Amino acid sequence: TAGPTREPIDPVRYITNKSSGKMGYAIARAAQLRGARVLLISGPTALEAPAGVEMVRVESTKDLLDALLPAAEQADIVVQAAAPADYRVAEVAPQKIKKQDGEPFVLTLTENPDVAKAVGENKRENQVLVGFAAETQAVRANATRKLDKKHLDFIVANDVTKPGAGFDVDTNIAAFLDHDGIEELPLMTKDALAHRILDRALAVLRAKQAR
Ligand code: CTP
Repeated sequence: TAGPTREPIDPVRYITNKSSGKMGYAIARAAQLRGARVLLISGPTALEAPAGVEMVRVESTKDLLDALLPAAEQADIVVQAAAPADYRVAEVAPQKIKKQDGEPFVLTLTENPDVAKAVGENKRENQVLVGFAAETQAVRANATRKLDKKHLDFIVANDVTKPGAGFDVDTNIAAFLDHDGIEELPLMTKDALAHRILDRALAVLRAKQAR
């Protein structure tokens, strides 16, 4: 999965986040180059569809969940690089909302499903689930919590406030985290990181298959 999701407010407005989709698209390209059959489920991005990759475009977090759950059943490896919106607007206005004559305008948000957690709850034997953790503080502690909650085999954690990491840049500074520990990686392109992620995911897959 890749990119942000969009949660509608009214017919002309939405809530979203800063995800560019670059990391997820790089992983899809890298997997396709290695001969995998790839399905890329993408939120709205400005990126070109990778050649030779089957693609499904989604808008909201709910759409992402609906597209991913059945697809994940068939996948050996699921890499969730998308940044699904955690909240949606409780009541989407059917018409364009008008200004409130200077009064504060309050939007009530309701929690979205956790897509990775839902995929984790349906995890198959010999399936590898890789998640991301975009953090601005306490990267290790926050990422470790997500590892368990979402039944992930490992997490690609990054501090999105570091220069050269995070949104809309072509590089990343990441760490691989699982129950055995943490492996810090140097600054590298998202394409290079994509291959490192696949190397590791394949090693985990092979180990499971050999059991
Ligand atoms: N994720 C998801 N569904 C959500 C939110 C996140 O599937 N509603 C997935 C992302 O694709 C990513 C991982 O969970 O692989 C971690 O995302 P992140 O935004 O860092 O974590 P959250 O679970 O949203 O936790 P928090 O917002 O509390 O940091």
